[in-house]
Amino acid sequence: MAREAKNYDHLLGGKAKGLSDTQLNAHFTLYKGYVNKLNEITTKLAAADRSTPNYSFNEYSELRRREPVAFNGTVLHELYFDSLGDGSTAPSDAVKAAIAGSFGSFDAWVADAKAALMSAHGWTLLTFDYESQKLLTNLVHSEHHAGLFANVHIMAAFDAWEHAYFFDYQTGKAKYVEAVLSGLNWNSIEARFKQAGIIKG
Ligand SMILES: [Fe+2]
Repeated sequence: MAREAKNYDHLLGGKAKGLSDTQLNAHFTLYKGYVNKLNEITTKLAAADRSTPNYSFNEYSELRRREPVAFNGTVLHELYFDSLGDGSTAPSDAVKAAIAGSFGSFDAWVADAKAALMSAHGWTLLTFDYESQKLLTNLVHSEHHAGLFANVHIMAAFDAWEHAYFFDYQTGKAKYVEAVLSGLNWNSIEARFKQAGIIKG
C-alpha cells in the first residue's frame, strides 16, 4: 500500500522557531518527493525480476540499493518535523536526567548537538544505543543512509542539509542551529524516550 506523506502545516505561521513558511513549504515539498520515490521503488520492487540479481547492475539490485535513500529520506524528515517546535515546551526532568546520564549534563548535549550540526552536511541524530544503554550523537552523511549507527533507536533528527535553512539564513548556519535547538518540541521527543524504554511513562 502506498505510503502517504504526513501533513506538517501546523508548523507554519511561526510554530517552528526561526523557520519561515517559505522555507518550511519548500522543505515539505522535498520531503514529499522522498515519499513519492519510496512508493515508486516499493511498487517496482514488487514486480521486479529476481532471477538475475547482480552487484554491478540489475533492476532489482539497484532498486534495493537505492531503497534506503528514499526510506530514510522519508522517515528522517518525519522525525525532524516532529521535533520542531516554537520553544513553548521544555524537557521533563526525566528526559534531562537521561540526557545528562549520557552526555554529562543537558547543556553538554546541547553543545555537542550544535557542534555536530555544524560538522554535518546531512543529518545529526540523537540516538539510544541498546547495548550500552547510552544516548549518542550520530552524523548521517552523503544521502540519508550512510553512517547510520546499527541497532540504535532514533530519538530526534536534525536536518543539517543546506535546503533546510538556506532560504532563511543563507550561509548563517549557526543561527539556524541555534533556532532549531532552542525551539524543540520536547513533548514529541519525550514520547520517543518512552517508546525506547529509557524513561517510564
Ligand atoms: Fe531535508
